[in-house]
Amino acid sequence: MDADRFNELPSHVWPAHARRQEDGVVTIAGVPLPEIVEEYGSPAFVIDEADFRSRCRSMAEAFGGPGNVHYAAKAFLTRAVARWVDEEGLSLDVASENELRIALAAGFPAGRIAAHGNNKSEGFLRLCVDGGVGHVVLDSFQEIERLARAAADAGAIQPVLVRVKPGIEAHTHEFIATAHEDQKFGFSLASGSALRAARLVLESPHLRLVGLHCHVGSQVFDAEGFSLAAERVLGLLGELLRECGPRHPEGPEGLARQLSTLDLGGGYGIAYLDEESPLDVAAVAADLLAKVRGHAEELGLPAPTVTVEPGRAIAGPSTVTVYTVGTVKDVHVEDDRLRRYLSVDGGMSDNIRPALYGARYEARVVSRFVDGAPVDSRVVGSHCESGDILIDSARLPDDIGAGDLLAIPATGAYCYAMSSRYNAFGRPPVIAVSSGKASVMLRRETVEDLLALEQD
Ligand code: LLP
Repeated sequence: MDADRFNELPSHVWPAHARRQEDGVVTIAGVPLPEIVEEYGSPAFVIDEADFRSRCRSMAEAFGGPGNVHYAAKAFLTRAVARWVDEEGLSLDVASENELRIALAAGFPAGRIAAHGNNKSEGFLRLCVDGGVGHVVLDSFQEIERLARAAADAGAIQPVLVRVKPGIEAHTHEFIATAHEDQKFGFSLASGSALRAARLVLESPHLRLVGLHCHVGSQVFDAEGFSLAAERVLGLLGELLRECGPRHPEGPEGLARQLSTLDLGGGYGIAYLDEESPLDVAAVAADLLAKVRGHAEELGLPAPTVTVEPGRAIAGPSTVTVYTVGTVKDVHVEDDRLRRYLSVDGGMSDNIRPALYGARYEARVVSRFVDGAPVDSRVVGSHCESGDILIDSARLPDDIGAGDLLAIPATGAYCYAMSSRYNAFGRPPVIAVSSGKASVMLRRETVEDLLALEQD
């Protein structure tokens, strides 16, 4: 029974094309993970391209078309990823100047890019204007001024959204909840600053307000948060149309046509553990779109185009991190109880999420079948720090030993993106797999890469 569980690859947690062969070896898209480690070493991220792409398509289908879905690049971005997103017809969100530069380097059409950030630099804003970015999501009064100046200097009119903080407590970790009042993003709805910001933008000759934005948080499972936020932001849209519509050159209807975008951000929760279920995006989307139509009708507004910005739900489940097990140590904890420490060759440098958010993961041996008895185990990395824990507590088979390959699934979002060079570990490679072929998307960082930054 336990052996079955230890060898199964739950399909709601693992990439769509992960399989265990008859000899116990796990393949992704037909590529055996031990072969990847033999060729490229471990740890290594392995990304299932077809899985990533099919999640793009499901999101597009759920939200009425690919143009309504912006992939949130912060989850994981390379030029190849930007090309996949482009080929699937999705739009793209960037949250920094360099994310924008990577997208542009991939040839991603600037008009389908949206730019985010609470403290965008002058350079970032100018690049948005000069590069023809689809819209900038405004986050502060200073930024309204800075962007208006950049657009004026370029003789351009920059489309923008105003980011609204609708005052909702998303049920997620405090650091990844973003729509409540006491945090750095957006303009407060409750205090009236969102209305003031929108008014100001409408008066600016070099900015064109095309709608409103909000984002309730990340890894959200309570879909009520999305619809409540939508309702509040629509309320603001109504207020804005009533107040500013009569002064608009094309009247209230013209302004309503102009403010046609309601961007509800990202946050769609995924399963990291067998016992969890991912948010049913198709069902949530259908419900959300119906509610938005209903609220708009109640307010006498034309139904806006709902856009979303998922990152994790597209990138997360597509990827696993493969490690090699090294040291195995049985440690006395209490009452003569033992805990087995399984050390792997990566750790908090390739996945900071457990240490930072208390995020939970599970692991499977991917180089063979296991059939040991379950023991209390902790999977730790190789960094010089006791908080370097990947899996705090799990019942794992007692036959795992040095040389076994252990893979952690659902590491495609915010793992490589938040990786570090702690202890001068180079970042692992990212290997893309598709139709039986492996290709290096990002190579491993070497000590030569680290030394090359030193100038003396
Ligand atoms: N849109 C905006 C404005 C955001 O701030 C974010 C995430 C997203 C979209 C994408 O959210 P997603 O669909 O991926 O949940 N590092 C954390 C997550 C931080 C999310 C920040 N903003 C983690 O590892 O869980």
